[in-house]
Amino acid sequence: MIDRETVQRILDAADIVEVVSDFVTLKKRGANYMGLCPFHNERTPSFSVSKAKNYCKCFSCGKGGSPVGFIMEHEQMSYGEALRYLAKKYHIEIKEREMTDTEREEASERESMLAINDFAMKYYQDFMANTDEGRDVGLAYFRQRGINDLMIEKFRLGFSPEKSDAFYQAAVAKGYNPDLLVKTGLVIRTDEGRVYDRFRARVIYPCFSVSGRVVAFGGRTLRTDKKMAKYVNSPESSIYRKSYELYGLYQAKSAIAKRDKCILVEGYMDVISMHQVGVENVVASSGTSLTEGQIRLIHRFTNNVTVIYDSDAAGIKASLRGIDLLLAEGLDIKVLLLPDGDDPDSFAQAHSATEVEEYLKANEVDFITFKTRILLKDAGADPLARSKVITDIVRSIAMIPNPVTRAIYVRECSRMLDIDEKTLALQLDRDVAQLAEKRVTQQGGAYGSQGTQGSLTQNGGPVAQGSKTGPEGSTPGSQSAQGSLVLDATQQKLRRPEMVLAKYIVKYGFMPVAEELDENPEAKPKMVTVIDYIDQELANDEIELTHPVVKRIFDDARQLYAQDWPAAQAQEAQRIEERRQEALQKGHQEIALRAKDLADIQAREQVLNEQVEAQAQREMTDFTMKYLEDFFLSSPDDQVRILSTALATERYSLSKVHTKYQHVDTELDRLQELVVRAVMELKFTILDLQIAEMQEEIRTNSIDPAKTQELMSQLFNLYQIKSQFAKFLGERIVNPK
Ligand code: UTP
Ligand code: MN
Repeated sequence: MIDRETVQRILDAADIVEVVSDFVTLKKRGANYMGLCPFHNERTPSFSVSKAKNYCKCFSCGKGGSPVGFIMEHEQMSYGEALRYLAKKYHIEIKEREMTDTEREEASERESMLAINDFAMKYYQDFMANTDEGRDVGLAYFRQRGINDLMIEKFRLGFSPEKSDAFYQAAVAKGYNPDLLVKTGLVIRTDEGRVYDRFRARVIYPCFSVSGRVVAFGGRTLRTDKKMAKYVNSPESSIYRKSYELYGLYQAKSAIAKRDKCILVEGYMDVISMHQVGVENVVASSGTSLTEGQIRLIHRFTNNVTVIYDSDAAGIKASLRGIDLLLAEGLDIKVLLLPDGDDPDSFAQAHSATEVEEYLKANEVDFITFKTRILLKDAGADPLARSKVITDIVRSIAMIPNPVTRAIYVRECSRMLDIDEKTLALQLDRDVAQLAEKRVTQQGGAYGSQGTQGSLTQNGGPVAQGSKTGPEGSTPGSQSAQGSLVLDATQQKLRRPEMVLAKYIVKYGFMPVAEELDENPEAKPKMVTVIDYIDQELANDEIELTHPVVKRIFDDARQLYAQDWPAAQAQEAQRIEERRQEALQKGHQEIALRAKDLADIQAREQVLNEQVEAQAQREMTDFTMKYLEDFFLSSPDDQVRILSTALATERYSLSKVHTKYQHVDTELDRLQELVVRAVMELKFTILDLQIAEMQEEIRTNSIDPAKTQELMSQLFNLYQIKSQFAKFLGERIVNPK
């Protein structure tokens, strides 16, 4: 735990340009800096860093955030870890809180388990190399499968003896704790207290974490007995979370980064044989479908994934869904089918490195095209089946975060599916909107998956993951502390309008939108800010926000506005005023030097005044917006930070072409109209809910005519208000859901 004051010092010190520059080469362009996005693969820079706003954002994939947010995303760190990182960079001292006794115990237990695994790995290796049984059975098997000594050493392959408790005895003799031997899963203890080795009489494949520690084992039987499981794997434990590990990643990661591509196969043997032939950027999902945690792991090293399938059709169709997850992460997915009857292992064993590389290059197809082909082949001419295919494909395309890539696929698929591009685009828009909303509330995808860390929980349960577990696991305001987001039906309906409102609060909350009318015409007009306006409007109609995160954003903003903002604003106003005076003085001197006559002086002075005034206003606007955004984008409340980052650095910006060739009003230009409208839409939705409720009441109350009469007239009132709202909101709400 880091104390509040230190956190603030770190946040104040962190400069986005300096922080990002450690990872990305930036070039100054106008007011901003640009570089190649570190979160996806690109040739032309779309990663923009704003020194003034102190945040960064990729216009293409949408990722970015405040200095803390950037480090969390880029380094896959928790909030606490990222703060520590920044503290180190800026030489800010952190006084560490002492670990509690339980934390210390847990940490030392994990260390002991890792030590046991390390011992076990060496034991199996040693047994295979240095005993008759090991050589005759284990080593002979690997030889027969064509695996050479280099690979045996690289992957630390071994053999566990036939004797049912050989390893257990060896470990206990070395002084390892029997209970921990059971916890790692290396040893199984029956209810009667009998112990035996889980991996007895199997060849051993140790599994390494990214940082190279042995977290689990796979053991393959050498028998062909169908009743026996071919592989036995370590169970989950506090050091092994299956869904956060990938077999081979430790050995493959540098090759993945260097070649900027990760090849995904199914099994242990596939990885090893590919390495042996010289293709080293290969990892295995170990026979199960990919998880988000595994995908993020890959994403740390590359943006490009090629999935290799053997040509078994049933397996392919089953795994298509899982690949959609990769798309959602913004990864570029290609698919490769191997020739009939081959798997990566047999293919690599039968070919040279160049042949494998060339086959890859010549045969990999992008995933959407691949999926479309496969599904279409199955659907044949059946129109119903074809329309299902279309829905399915569009849903996959909608997962892709980059709008430009989506557009390209829409075009491609409209050709392949022989269907109008516009029709596809329309359906796509709906799917995209639906997904975006889901992501924001789940805190899982886009900004979620961008912003959220593996250490966050989906459903509130703790997810410890190897090295990430530890005191850092519970950062202040972590999700489990706040509970997961489950919205009821009313909250669901109100979500969209509340999100829009939250966006204006985060981005423009303290900006003035109107002048307050005052009886005294002499008085300096008081400005009504966005937060004032929303606050008043909600209070007038006694509206409570229902979305828990939006509500926290609103409350936090109000509190900041009342407590810290007045002083901060006054101070900045004074600084701006000083600069203004300075600029005026300098301007006057210049005019005195250059002006030709009195009229010229007057003309020049007017220009000067206008310029200086405009400059001062710009400065105040920038300060106001930055102040609030800084506050939210660095919030220790994970959900608040993630949501406000998503809202403030909007993903779906206008296309570059659009902004280049014509002037578009910015949100700031139309702020008043937009905020008024946002409030209206919220009220309109609430009204709709009330009408539905009233109708329900009339239906159930039909016995009492007087009461019904009364309800009817109330309902009529609501209808009238609704029609006025609708008129105001215009055609945008034609058919509210
Ligand atoms: P495979 O059956 O393709 O295994 O299962 P493989 O790695 O190619 O092994 P060989 O060639 O038969 O020796 C793919 C992966 O699925 C997991 C393992 O991780 C395996 O590598 N698996 C398979 C299990 O966990 N348990 C099983 O019983 C079978
Ligand atoms: Mn195999």
